[in-house]
Amino acid sequence: MTSWRDALSGVADTVRQGRVAPKALAVLDSRSLVRALFLSSAVRFELLQHLVTEHSADELAELTGASNPDRLRAWLQVGVELGELRRRDDRYRVSGRRARALAGGDEFLTAHYRSILEYQVGPYAELDELLRSDAGTGRDDLDRYADDIARVSLAATPFVSSLVRRTVAQLHPTRVLDAGCGSGVYTRVVLEADPVVLVDGVDLAESVIIDAREELAKTGHGDRGRLHAGDMLEWLDRSKHRFDLVMLLNNVYYFERAQRRELYRLVRSRLTAAGQLLVVSMTSPGSIAAAHLDLMLRCQSGTASLPDVLDLRSDLTGAGYEVIEELRLVPTEPFVGFRARPHG
Ligand SMILES: C[S@@+](CC[C@H](N)C(=O)[O-])C[C@H]1O[C@@H](n2cnc3c(N)ncnc32)[C@H](O)[C@@H]1O
Repeated sequence: MTSWRDALSGVADTVRQGRVAPKALAVLDSRSLVRALFLSSAVRFELLQHLVTEHSADELAELTGASNPDRLRAWLQVGVELGELRRRDDRYRVSGRRARALAGGDEFLTAHYRSILEYQVGPYAELDELLRSDAGTGRDDLDRYADDIARVSLAATPFVSSLVRRTVAQLHPTRVLDAGCGSGVYTRVVLEADPVVLVDGVDLAESVIIDAREELAKTGHGDRGRLHAGDMLEWLDRSKHRFDLVMLLNNVYYFERAQRRELYRLVRSRLTAAGQLLVVSMTSPGSIAAAHLDLMLRCQSGTASLPDVLDLRSDLTGAGYEVIEELRLVPTEPFVGFRARPHG
């Protein structure tokens, strides 16, 4: 039974101490944190799939090999309090929207929640060490979690797809290059937008390319879309083709600024006379998500960082392009798209 007298006295003391707002905010923050931690651990240890159908804690322990059912019950209770799980007697099943989507195999949400424990906490947990180490040394998330990084960037797909479709409809390109294609999502958007276009995709991460090839074959576009594993700079350098459209989507931030200009110049030398370059990127400063991504990039070994939007524009003009369209693709984020063509 609630002791209203003690509760009111506690509230009065809290008010007297004069720090109500920060305390209330901290409590609210920890609710979001617990939800994120619960769902991240559920993804990491593949627990929710079992809870699509109702199971007791003992059955779940048996299914997952958990030898400490008390701890498992405590973990399940966190899910119940969050509303992500439903409990009837000692039987549990998924109930919240996020948990149901994860249990159903939602690709983006799975990568998102796995990334929290795998690499999003890293730069904060190791900040002291990272602040003391040399630029160029740091974490290797980009290599270790390439698959999840490619999947997490799918959050932007509806916004980018619209720009890609419109660009293809206006240019009617014969040959397109999707440089740093990741999961190949935009390679597929281009192929679906035009019935005869040929698309090459290239990405550094071989495992990502293998999955992307499978996806392309499944959608029946394998004959017009070819995906290659490799460094886009080397690939472009060796390429004998000219492209009507080159897309650099969500990846220019992996290159340091001088290298970006080099990349734009190299692309320019591989464009047809009427060819265009499409660059899409989160930029910084401008939002919490952008600042967080910029910190994560700068904490990697290497020289990755988000571009400033002014630098992005001036790098394109400095590399011999005329910017023909500049768009903010997501109203709440400094997430931009540039269409550019070679000068003159
Ligand atoms: C955030 S993902 C974006 C993938 C895709 N363009 C999209 O928007 O969904 C960035 C991709 O760029 C790739 N990448 C980074 N540097 C690269 C390079 N030098 N050559 C080829 N791919 C590169 C990474 O392997 C990763 O798959």
